[in-house]
Amino acid sequence: MGKKITDRVTWVGKVDWELRKFHGDEYSTHRGSSYNSYLIRDKKTVLIDTVWLPYDKEFVTNLKKEIDLKEIDYIIVNHGEVDHSGSLPELMKEIPDTPIYCTANAVKSLKGQYHQDWNFVTVKTGDKLELGETTLTFIEATMLHWPDTMFTYMSGDNILFSNDGFGQHYASETLFNDSADPCILWAEAMKYYANILAPFSPMVTRKIKEIQAMNLPIDMICTSHGICWKDNPMQIVEKYLEWADNYQENRITIIYDTMWNATRHMAEAIAAGILEVDPEVEVKIFNSAKTDKTDLITEVFRSRAIVMGSSTVNNGYLYSIAGILELIRGMKFKNKKAAAFGSYGWSGEAVKLINEELKKAGFEVVSDGYRVNWEPDKAELEKIKEFGRQLAKLL
Ligand code: FEO
Repeated sequence: MGKKITDRVTWVGKVDWELRKFHGDEYSTHRGSSYNSYLIRDKKTVLIDTVWLPYDKEFVTNLKKEIDLKEIDYIIVNHGEVDHSGSLPELMKEIPDTPIYCTANAVKSLKGQYHQDWNFVTVKTGDKLELGETTLTFIEATMLHWPDTMFTYMSGDNILFSNDGFGQHYASETLFNDSADPCILWAEAMKYYANILAPFSPMVTRKIKEIQAMNLPIDMICTSHGICWKDNPMQIVEKYLEWADNYQENRITIIYDTMWNATRHMAEAIAAGILEVDPEVEVKIFNSAKTDKTDLITEVFRSRAIVMGSSTVNNGYLYSIAGILELIRGMKFKNKKAAAFGSYGWSGEAVKLINEELKKAGFEVVSDGYRVNWEPDKAELEKIKEFGRQLAKLL
């Protein structure tokens, strides 16, 4: 059932407690998620976004308990991805002529997905919709994170409906940040940024500065996933500016995959060498075949450098390393350094190939890397540790 946001705004979304994978298998959601939809009741009545397709009937049934659907004057689609638009077809069966306000790109994405010629009203940045005592202002937010995305600002209650922006995959019994667990909230907000928005960081910075220049009073940011930012809502905006600005912490992440543990032993020796020279840096070691990939991308996002290792197999690197390299490439991280390592039996191409991929992904590769033939013995492990000591100075 609906939950009160303000006297005029009611949350009518869906909390998905059991969701563990999102975007197919791409994004892990250890703490579930929510699909937030909002009902505004002024002289005119507005629905902002819907919920994911599997919950379409539940959504419409619950919405009917909140309001006679015929009283909805306008629907706003801030973004056409199916987790927010998926219940539109079910809803539009009941109110087929209701105008849908969205960007021109959203018309394309909605028609492309649902093949319906609904009553679309296309809007651009600065267009307004008078509701009575309050007014909605639309702000296109192209590529944050789809071409069709926009934000909607509501005057009077001073709410920015930001859709995916500032969101978190976080199923919570509370609607607001001041009553949420801050550790979980910030961890999920960062994971969301690192995996969804990081490739678009220059656009994030530009859009935030554009909104700041509009001088809109913002009392609350209502996202489409997770909790709403009510207590000091601008704290997440400031954090986004920081994250979008080539973010890094004093952290080096070692990522490896291994067949018979030789490359694993190398990873541990490199970590020991780095820490000997630089005990202040936080060094973490992950086996990419055993680590959640979404969490691993978050670790890379936080790092100033990565060191990546793989055994050589079939003249290349291992499968999980190929996967994480592909994810890293897509994230367009900037201002990060890297090096590679690995054990081999005969051909030994993995280190060279990893270096090439890291360069293509925009990393500054500081070394030719370190290869070991077969399992490193005690003397070899000491040399690998020395390689770690050198990396501490180079990374
Ligand atoms: Fe939450 Fe881009 O959909």
